[in-house]
Amino acid sequence: MAKGTPSFTSESLAALKQRYSNAGQAHVLKFFEDLEDETAAAFFNQLSGIDIERCNEFFDRTVRSPAGAEEEESVELEPLASGSFASALEGGSQADDLAQWRAEGMRLIRENKVAVILLAGGQGTRLGSSAPKGCYDIGLPSGKGLFEIQAERIKRLQQIAAGAGEQPATIPWLVMTSGPTSAATQKKFADSAFFGLKQEDVFFFNQGVLPCFDLDGKIMLESRGRVAVAPDGNGGIYEALRLSGALDWLRARGVEHVHSYCVDNCLVRVADPVFVGYAALRGAECGALVVPKKSWDEPVGVICMRNGRYGVVEYSEISTETAQLTRPGTASELAYNAGNICNHYYSLDFLQNRVPDIEASLEHHVAKKKITSVDIDSGDVVKPTKPNGIKLERFVFDVFPFVHKMAILEVDRKDQFSPLKNAPGAGVDCPETSRSDLIAQCIRFAEAAGATVQRAADGQEPSFEISALVSYAGEGLESLSGKTLAGDQLITDLDNIVVV
Ligand code: UTP
Repeated sequence: MAKGTPSFTSESLAALKQRYSNAGQAHVLKFFEDLEDETAAAFFNQLSGIDIERCNEFFDRTVRSPAGAEEEESVELEPLASGSFASALEGGSQADDLAQWRAEGMRLIRENKVAVILLAGGQGTRLGSSAPKGCYDIGLPSGKGLFEIQAERIKRLQQIAAGAGEQPATIPWLVMTSGPTSAATQKKFADSAFFGLKQEDVFFFNQGVLPCFDLDGKIMLESRGRVAVAPDGNGGIYEALRLSGALDWLRARGVEHVHSYCVDNCLVRVADPVFVGYAALRGAECGALVVPKKSWDEPVGVICMRNGRYGVVEYSEISTETAQLTRPGTASELAYNAGNICNHYYSLDFLQNRVPDIEASLEHHVAKKKITSVDIDSGDVVKPTKPNGIKLERFVFDVFPFVHKMAILEVDRKDQFSPLKNAPGAGVDCPETSRSDLIAQCIRFAEAAGATVQRAADGQEPSFEISALVSYAGEGLESLSGKTLAGDQLITDLDNIVVV
């Protein structure tokens, strides 16, 4: 029998029970009286911290009577008009434009006006690693994990933006974690001495969690004394940025522009000066990098216009006929071709002054999942074989429809996007593709600088890596010109390379 503990009294427990009963969720307390004191106290705290009425409302709005369900039927899609986005692909923008955007981005970085936000709250269920995705070693010669690769790009960019011999610029790094990833992420950073960055320039913040619901809207229990919860989706970034004080922290540092990206993209150009410069020069509130789809049926969301506003159409929502449409005057260029890679720009003004008013309008999405939970009748924990529950998530791109000025930039997939989603051996978006895409990029960097990288006679992919501390995006490699480089090597110092 749970006794009153310092954390609750019989009155406060009765009030809590009444609240959950009024909300139609009294079942969560069914086993309360049987809990050990410590578990009961923790459970009381967990239940007290859940805004149960608000959670019910989210479920009702999202699952029972989703707002816009009727509208959804008649959603009018339009591709992005050709003049409404820029392209950094060959034959896209003029070299002058790219140089101008890059110079502007570099200037802003040099003036310490650019920060980056890493979305690292996902549970990475498809990858199946117990550690956060950012710790994952994709098999590079250096053995570096994704966090480390990103940190080194920040470090290098801080140096090149400032110029040789100058004090490096500062690019604050905000890391969004969630219950499942927070402790292990912070430990990894601490154990790695912040990968050579200054600890004071890194800001961890946690996104929110929401209870998991069964298909009838009842909150699920992970154990008799704990509600099953899940992170509220990468769209939880907006509320979390505000509640954690991150926006005020950025403002106090004089930051004006923010780049956000996913932890699982080994090719991400963190704080990409071209993108930041492009968006800033356009005076954009928000921006997105996109890549051309590989084929009309590639399972990727596409940025387009939905009922006249910016939005993303998921691959499951788009008809074959629409997905196959081509641009007028072209035989093969897809009209819906702006593959969304979850790589965004924000002005701090937008995040701080406009998003708080938008937040309440951001709907949740339903993710049906297999959730191990307590059977309320028997009290036993049951592992389901098919989806039995619902996680409610917001998506980071849900703000797009509210954006007044958007900056969309098309970039080359092979240079900027290779996501790690699936377990080893999957053959697509897995550790092997991440490794090989990054190595291929390092080889291209060396070859663009005029070097030749030796390939094995059997055509095996070399293990060739250039540390991001040496080159952020292929710059600074002039000394490699005319040299034939051993294919299997890790270059961390240009004065120390293996030439054949
Ligand atoms: P994904 O949607 O690919 O999810 O996240 P995931 O957790 O990495 O993988 P699965 O679906 O469980 O297999 C895209 C990006 O959004 C972040 C992830 O960390 C990743 O950078 N994310 C996702 C969050 O930050 N919070 C979330 O609640 C969900």
